[in-house]
Amino acid sequence: MNINIALLPGDGIGPEVIAQAVKCLKAVEETFGHQFTFTTELIGGAAILETKKALPENTIKLCLDSDAVLFGAIGLPEYDNNPDAKIRPENGLFELRKALGVFTNIRPVAVFPTLLKKSPLKEAVLKGTDFVIYRELTGGIYGGAHTLSGDGTTATDIASYTESQISRITHLAFKAAKKRSKKITLIDKSNVLETSRLWRRVVKRISASYPEVELECIYLHNAIMQMILNPSRFDVILAPNLFGDIISDQASVIGGSIGLLPSASIGDGIAMFEPIHGSYPQAAGKDIANPIAAILSAAMLLQHFGLEEESRAVVSAVNKSLKKKIVTPDISSKSKHGTNDVGDFIANNIVDTDDSLTM
Ligand code: IPM
Ligand code: MN
Repeated sequence: MNINIALLPGDGIGPEVIAQAVKCLKAVEETFGHQFTFTTELIGGAAILETKKALPENTIKLCLDSDAVLFGAIGLPEYDNNPDAKIRPENGLFELRKALGVFTNIRPVAVFPTLLKKSPLKEAVLKGTDFVIYRELTGGIYGGAHTLSGDGTTATDIASYTESQISRITHLAFKAAKKRSKKITLIDKSNVLETSRLWRRVVKRISASYPEVELECIYLHNAIMQMILNPSRFDVILAPNLFGDIISDQASVIGGSIGLLPSASIGDGIAMFEPIHGSYPQAAGKDIANPIAAILSAAMLLQHFGLEEESRAVVSAVNKSLKKKIVTPDISSKSKHGTNDVGDFIANNIVDTDDSLTM
């Protein structure tokens, strides 16, 4: 298969972890006989420095002309301490999500058996945890107007949702649940928010078309407790934009490291794949960042194009690296391995299992 992939490494550790994902995709290309084309462009702080824009036209054009986007991370410390900056690296990501029309961010949270002890949760609590978050990506408080009164004393952020915004992601979530453990949890704040009441109504109505899937609706404040007390009770979690953002960061630590979790952002057109971690500028250039989230994002990309075996081969190479302790220091503080070693090991261990069975 031919796939044109736009690479947007971005800021901080983005370039280092994307380089490892590319190594793995190249190994897949060779092992399975595919043809991937990689073209790199600027986004975020790196783009602002060169072009004064967080998402330059060239980058939009490249993404729209590609089959998929592989994105690293965004954000620079100088902007974190400067809330008044008009052009912010994060704007690049918001604009890109808009330009691609992606509306669902899919974040799988599975616990690697070899890392059960790394989790802040007890092994017995963690056992069997395997869920996926479907986060809405266009609406809510992210999509509304953000204003500050002239005298600087009153700020407003408007959250709004339409039925169609809710229903398109809801159908995707139900379809995913049908293939998994057939349970959906809608996370909302319908005791307070009108948008949440709309979510509940629309999701309940749609659930009638998926009788084999069980739907539960729980409040955000309850959901975050349940995720710590009993994470294995979840299967597919459906959440509006802001709630989905927050719970996925909580979810990311229960597996042992935020450096492990990938994501896919999909819509009706080109999809984008990215680790859920940020740009971690303190680690940039030190060869210590965990490349696994970026590599697993590449595995999600392969799966998106129906390359199931190829995707599984990447995941099993990742499992092997964890088992053999070829890991970055976030996984084992004693580890002498860096970002590059881990990327090399995983890329070198991508094998076509069907071939090895017949040998
Ligand atoms: C994410 C990030 C972004 C978000 C930031 C960088 C704007 O946290 O992709 O989860 O809040 O959507
Ligand atoms: Mn986030």
